[in-house]
Amino acid sequence: MTILVTGGAGFIGSNFIRAWLRQMRGHVVNVDALTYAGNADNLSGIAGSSDYTFVHATICDRERMTALFSQHDIGAVINFAAESHVDRSIHAPDDFVQTNVVGVHVLLDAARKHWSSLTGSRKEKFRFLHVSTDEVFGTLEPDDPAFSETTPYRPNSPYAATKAAADHLVRAYHQTYGLPVLTTNCSNNYGPYQFPEKLIPLCLHHALADKPLPIYGDGRQVRDWLYVEDHCDAVRLVLERGAVGETYNVGGAKDIANVDVVTMLCEILDKVSPRSDGKNYAEQISFVADRPGHDRRYAVNSGKIANDLGWRAKETFATGLAKTVGWYLDNREWTGRVTSGAYRQWIEKQYAP
Ligand code: NAD
Ligand code: DAU
Repeated sequence: MTILVTGGAGFIGSNFIRAWLRQMRGHVVNVDALTYAGNADNLSGIAGSSDYTFVHATICDRERMTALFSQHDIGAVINFAAESHVDRSIHAPDDFVQTNVVGVHVLLDAARKHWSSLTGSRKEKFRFLHVSTDEVFGTLEPDDPAFSETTPYRPNSPYAATKAAADHLVRAYHQTYGLPVLTTNCSNNYGPYQFPEKLIPLCLHHALADKPLPIYGDGRQVRDWLYVEDHCDAVRLVLERGAVGETYNVGGAKDIANVDVVTMLCEILDKVSPRSDGKNYAEQISFVADRPGHDRRYAVNSGKIANDLGWRAKETFATGLAKTVGWYLDNREWTGRVTSGAYRQWIEKQYAP
């Protein structure tokens, strides 16, 4: 079966495609607009594989999306494509509405036309898996139970609102047209190839460059961290065994405050790549202005995917973080390439005193 992966040149999508091809699961068509976050470099190791086709296009392009489905006889879609950074959505929400809402609608419509033309087992097996986020549920109070699949949607950032809108469209295409959809709502990912605008790779990059490690507000906001390969396993499992029309929450069961995440990161670096002046990396921590509308706490209940599909995270936060630090230390030239040019302007704009 050929699968269509969108946004496969980004962080999670590229990890997903690498694992899919490593496990020889079939042909992948990767559609990516190559925005600032998409990097052909992320898949350089597999670019020549006969099981891999790259298409440089936006999911908002109706003609191209419609043509792709029939040209490649697509058996399933995994939609990772999105504008994904909350801070950017606060500065400039337009691109988020365009890709995360309009783009998802175009993709759903193209998938529906293709699916309607199928017959027999091809039609029965077709799936549209939409990769979403726990941010659609909004924020938790300290004693609230973790987000479950029935938690009401209360998105607080433009990013979260556009992902919520997309989730609703996906649901509506199932309820109205019968399109066989699946949705995953995952917590914060970390690991290799994450663009250094997100907390963990940003702090790694800044630590090694002897720059301040910016922590918003009091740093006590809590996130639920999951190693990216565990998320990719969950997506694959939902694609293969998930019940059509259902949503699955995915989390790392590791709720930890931002300042503690950065402190752990500093402690690993102190051991594996000590500062030349003998000081601790934690001395670079710098508290800066808070993010507007900053969600205080996320925690995800993964009971459904664990009970129904047998999913378990393989990495703990300690093992995953150590692997991640190792990858960034071994791949400094990757960070060097993706942090040139427009990246610098973003950092200046976002972290201006
Ligand atoms: P990312 O920003 O690293 O990658 C996004 C990819 O989508 C890039 O390759 C980009 O070029 C591509 N893209 C953007 N607009 C496009 C368009 N119009 N058409 C085609 N391609 C386009 O994002 P990520 O962190 O890998 O996240 C992937 C998905 O997972 C997103 O949908 C995100 O909402 C979701 N998610 C992310 C996390 C996380 O912690 N990173 C957690 C839960 C869910
Ligand atoms: O929860 C899932 C979401 O996780 C995904 O849907 C998003 O695509 C992904 O970007 C991520 O969103 P966050 O906003 O939680 O991730 P980020 O790495 O930007 O921030 C993590 C926490 O760290 C958050 O509380 C804000 C804080 N932070 C972030 C940055 C970039 C800082 O304190 N300083 C920073 O410089």
